[in-house]
Amino acid sequence: MSSRKKVAILISGGGSNMVSLVESMGSDHAARPCLVLANSADAGGLQKAATMGVPTAVVDHRPFGKDRAAFEAELVKPILAAGADIVCLAGFMRVLTAGFVGQFQGRMLNIHPSLLPKYKGLHTHARAIEAGDTVHGCSVHEVTPLLDDGPILGQATVPIHKDDTPDTLAARVLVQEHKLYPAVLARYAAGNREPLSFS
Ligand code: GRF
Repeated sequence: MSSRKKVAILISGGGSNMVSLVESMGSDHAARPCLVLANSADAGGLQKAATMGVPTAVVDHRPFGKDRAAFEAELVKPILAAGADIVCLAGFMRVLTAGFVGQFQGRMLNIHPSLLPKYKGLHTHARAIEAGDTVHGCSVHEVTPLLDDGPILGQATVPIHKDDTPDTLAARVLVQEHKLYPAVLARYAAGNREPLSFS
């Protein structure tokens, strides 16, 4: 009987994607949440995780200044202690070095609010509106050392309305994120890496 895969979820803020992922991992799911880890004690998702009964941890990046490797040497400890098989970045806003990624490559996912490879990095909604795009969306991808660049595991599209602001568009994309990430994780944890697309 194969045991369920253990999933560590890394957050920086409200953790709405983390909530969707945790809620999706019912007893029939190939995975279960083992840790929610934040880079700030102020991350609102920490309380939500605790309420859902998921162990939490905080490794604040600020004391480490620009020493990313020193921060990551601490960040990795609770992930290893929890015995995570899969790491899900969910609104995690720190850039990870190749050294950290290398420890989890092939078992680390991220959700990014654009139709990759378009709009890697920040302010994706504003950039799509600025460009006059008619569709936007979100992508779940495997994490590789290059930012927002790994193999795409799933995408969901939303239309851009002519009166959209970055905030109204972001809200529409977030609804799709909350559907896409759990759907991709369920397949990924069961060993299916076929890309999934929602329109
Ligand atoms: C979302 O837009 C997500 O795509 C991005 O961070 C934002 C907030 O995510 N990575 P969450 O509510 O903290 O999950």
